[in-house]
Amino acid sequence: MKFTGKNIWITGASSGIGEAVALEISKHKAFLILSGRNEKALKEVAERCQKNGSSTQIIPFDLSNENSVLEAADKVLSQKIKIDGLYQFGGISQRSFVSETPLEVDRKIFEVNFFGTIALTKSILPWMIENDGGQIAVTSSIVGKFGFPYRSAYSASKHALHGYFESLRAENLQNNVRVSVIIPGRIKTNVSLNALNKNGNPHGQMDEGQDKGKSADWTARKICRKLEKERKEILVGGFDLIMVYIRRFFPFLYYYMASRVKPL
Ligand SMILES: NC(=O)c1ccc[n+]([C@@H]2O[C@H](COP(=O)([O-])OP(=O)(O)OC[C@H]3O[C@@H](n4cnc5c(N)ncnc54)[C@H](OP(=O)(O)O)[C@@H]3O)[C@@H](O)[C@H]2O)c1
Repeated sequence: MKFTGKNIWITGASSGIGEAVALEISKHKAFLILSGRNEKALKEVAERCQKNGSSTQIIPFDLSNENSVLEAADKVLSQKIKIDGLYQFGGISQRSFVSETPLEVDRKIFEVNFFGTIALTKSILPWMIENDGGQIAVTSSIVGKFGFPYRSAYSASKHALHGYFESLRAENLQNNVRVSVIIPGRIKTNVSLNALNKNGNPHGQMDEGQDKGKSADWTARKICRKLEKERKEILVGGFDLIMVYIRRFFPFLYYYMASRVKPL
């Protein structure tokens, strides 16, 4: 799908990969609906998108609050515009061991990464189907392909997205709904700063692994190219992507590495 002239809703647009994707797509004169919780950051991103020649609308909402998600969807649907793309980057990571993490923190991570994402998708899907289809993208992670220390609920929530959106894709081929699952490796964003610790508070540190990751701008360019080609899975990152193949083809090696790898 070419972005020019399209109506595209981007969640997680206030920071990191989602922000960079919004800016990249804005070069193509699209109409961008930008979402996240941080209204001030969204306004700044919107201004930069407008300078690139796109029109924008800000719809702030909280993925962990179902009413907030549904209200946001209602606002967009009430405009009766075709939604050509729903690109979902909103998400939160984790830095805590299973043994020390209360269930409420696990649930919070699932509320944002999984239930918030599917609530928004389910609100938009019928309208998309009525309007000859569209493209839905969700952001998983390489740890949506294998487990990783310190990321138990995060990894599980990303695994869940694969099952859900592969099912959605298979159910909606005849409705012209195309699904892309984006699978980043380590990208240098605020993800580790915002990750929840065992108390449900932000981890607050730029982890060494994150710091050495690919830039958000580089990542966004790769993602956009593959979104245009409507790739079903979009793996993007550096050398760390090799873990996906090691897990698939040499599981014994993965088990060894996962038990020794530095989680931060
Ligand atoms: N960076 C990486 O290495 C990496 C690797 C694999 C996967 N990912 C995935 O990539 C996506 C983007 O992450 P990022 O790296 O760009 O991190 P980021 O800079 O922390 O951005 C996260 C985005 O999610 C939004 N968000 C978080 N909680 C939300 C909530 N409750 N309601 C609504 N929006 C919420 C944030 O907006 P507000 O704060 O304004 O709400 C922000 O725009 C995430 O799904 C993440 O899991 C990242």
